[in-house]
Amino acid sequence: MSTHTVTITDNRSGKQAEFDIIDPTIGSPAIDIRTLHGQLGLFTYDPGFQATASCKSDITYIDGDQGILLYRGYPIEQLAEQSNYLETSFLLMYGHLPDPGEYDEFVNIIKRHTMVHEGVKQFFNGFQHDAHPMAIMVGVVGALSAFYHDSLDVTNPRHREISAHRLLAKMPTIAAYSHRRAHGLPLPYPRNDLDFIENFMYMMFSVPTEEYQINPVAVRAMRKIFILHADHEQNASTSTVRLASSSGANPFACISAGIASLWGPAHGGANEAVIRMLEEIKDPSEIPKYIARAKDKNDPYRLMGFGHRIYKNYDPRAKIIREACNDLLEVLDSSNQPLFETARELERIALEDEYFLERNLYPNVDFYSGIILKALDIPLNMFTVIFAMARTAGWISQWLEMMEDKEQRIGRPRQIYTGATQRDYVPLSQRR
Ligand code: CMC
Repeated sequence: MSTHTVTITDNRSGKQAEFDIIDPTIGSPAIDIRTLHGQLGLFTYDPGFQATASCKSDITYIDGDQGILLYRGYPIEQLAEQSNYLETSFLLMYGHLPDPGEYDEFVNIIKRHTMVHEGVKQFFNGFQHDAHPMAIMVGVVGALSAFYHDSLDVTNPRHREISAHRLLAKMPTIAAYSHRRAHGLPLPYPRNDLDFIENFMYMMFSVPTEEYQINPVAVRAMRKIFILHADHEQNASTSTVRLASSSGANPFACISAGIASLWGPAHGGANEAVIRMLEEIKDPSEIPKYIARAKDKNDPYRLMGFGHRIYKNYDPRAKIIREACNDLLEVLDSSNQPLFETARELERIALEDEYFLERNLYPNVDFYSGIILKALDIPLNMFTVIFAMARTAGWISQWLEMMEDKEQRIGRPRQIYTGATQRDYVPLSQRR
């Protein structure tokens, strides 16, 4: 029971009620307003959840003012430097870094689930050849629930774990297939002798006529991108997954809903939008024109890859990815260097501009991740798919946590009704 409380007074009626303050381990405390309506007959109004905690969570902590991001307490900088994606996924799912035995077992389990049912492959032929791979992802991941009936009882913890493993393991296969379908390439089987990232690159780029050569520089850069995108607490897509599952829906359908939410340009679609923006700017001399558009209240144009709901100082992921981008472009061919130069110049000019400073608009993780992906020859329309694959670790961890949380109920926000008051139906013949 909290020892801190807050008293709310309704000035209209003079009624008062006391509410507990819930203290987190770190971060801002929250007022427990669950009885607010019962006590004062009031709702809270918070579109976009700017000040509302929808759950308690042990998984990820963000301090937006200090630019801190922790997965299960571990700083993102340490994980990006020293961990790998599957170890980070284990950490997110189970709450601790695996010991060597746990790690080997987890890697083997994930490897054993990378293939998709042969029937799932038929779906890829049904899509238009020019379908956006995110559209394919939404469809195929949702369709998995039609194939894996044996793990759909969400009240059974073992079923939940198997579904989580399946989602994590099959996402790269589905992602690579959605790319290959667009290019008329055969769908290869995953390779268990490769690690998670290597296998994804192999499924994306191998051709049956040649032996596939792994590029360790590309794998290293991709590993970093995966770790940096693995979780980000209650963002739009994660909240979508939680809201969808709050009704007891199966995890394949719920993760598909998360993918749909991620697709938007304000969220995961931003990495694709950044490259389109930089290509449109073309020359650094054009930057002031685009900055002026972004500042113009009458123009909906925004600088893609800038701004974040939580980070108001800097995005720690952007700092890591900017350095990785620098390192990568030094060793890979330099054809993407001009794009990187334009990005750096855009960042420099924006960060000297009052408009961006006043609003705390800094480059976010997607500002530089697109340049890395482009340098690795990943097609533009696959950028958000890669974000979705990486975020799957976070989505399933948040879902597993939510399913164990006794305080969670079906998600059902309230509203402030602003429509017509009650009125009588008028028959069509009497309406003018
Ligand atoms: N360019 C120009 N102005 C901006 C931008 C931008 N990128 N972002 C915010 N603003 C302005 C906005 O117009 C508003 O100005 P004013 O106060 O004068 O009305 C002010 O800054 C606050 O913006 P907001 O839309 O209220 O902030 P938000 O917290 O609701 O939105 C955001 C956050 C990330 C959606 C937004 O900054 C944005 O649209 N950024 C571009 C898209 C992007 O890069 N998204 C990736 C986010 S990081 C990866 C992820 O989590 O998926």
